[in-house]
Amino acid sequence: MRVIKTVAEMRRARAKLKGSVGLVPTMGALHAGHMALVARAKRDTYNAVVSIFVNPTQFGPDEDFARYPRPIEKDLKLCRKAGVAIAFTPTTEEMYPHGESMRVDPGDIGRVLEGKSRPGHFLGVSTVVTKLFGIVRPDVAYFGEKDAQQVRVIRRINQDLALGVKVVAVPTVREPDGLALSSRNVYLRTQDRVVAPVLFRSLQAARGAWQRGERRGSALRQVALAVLAEVPDARVDYVSVADPETLAEIDIAKGPALVSMAVRIGRVRLIDNTTLE
Ligand code: PAJ
Repeated sequence: MRVIKTVAEMRRARAKLKGSVGLVPTMGALHAGHMALVARAKRDTYNAVVSIFVNPTQFGPDEDFARYPRPIEKDLKLCRKAGVAIAFTPTTEEMYPHGESMRVDPGDIGRVLEGKSRPGHFLGVSTVVTKLFGIVRPDVAYFGEKDAQQVRVIRRINQDLALGVKVVAVPTVREPDGLALSSRNVYLRTQDRVVAPVLFRSLQAARGAWQRGERRGSALRQVALAVLAEVPDARVDYVSVADPETLAEIDIAKGPALVSMAVRIGRVRLIDNTTLE
């Protein structure tokens, strides 16, 4: 595996790769969720490229950019073991040589849900992913359903800016008790970790109601909120029942519905989602 730190060197290495290229963009602190994306890239393409870059532009001023975990040696070891061809680990100066002046704005789809709670978040994500697509020029790029809105935003910029990459969404990898794997789970204190599966349980409750025929967005939302309310330490940021394509809130579902949520437990903000169909 090659470890590449500069854009110029990444471009040269890309030009020499034979066969298809699959890109897995990450911010590191790799876990089994990330590695499921890598495994899929390895299965589908000849060369798996993993980018590891904690992107400052997608963090708000009061968010965890500074303390975001950065176990780079451990990450590189995992990539090596998984058969990754190139790990691209640029510095901030490499990725943003002119600072933050240039931005890709995905429009309204980036201003609801996570984009509403974290203003500017999807400007940062869209900008960095557009750049990574331009640097690595992958045939296929892999993203986790765990960040359902992120997948929609990236599909949209890929279409609207004609970036020409095949975007593949990979199902969420969970702990046995349902908690979605996340680099931020390391911040959970013991007592937080015990209650954290409440997000998954509330999604399952909404699924149960859906299977019994409930199609009203507000009712599905209430079912999920009632389960979250069982945990006094869980502070709900939002629970949404939305159209999986447009992300518009659903009154009465006529097709599939995306139930998504952000919940604070202790000092950790967790997100999760499920698609009902
Ligand atoms: P990061 O949070 O490191 O996640 C990298 C990729 O792994 C994302 O596509 C995310 O959805 C996926 N992922 C995370 N946890 C997962 C899980 N439990 N199961 C399956 N996939 C999972 O998302 C980002 O980084 C950044 O926004 C990025 C796209 C790299 C742009 O900076």
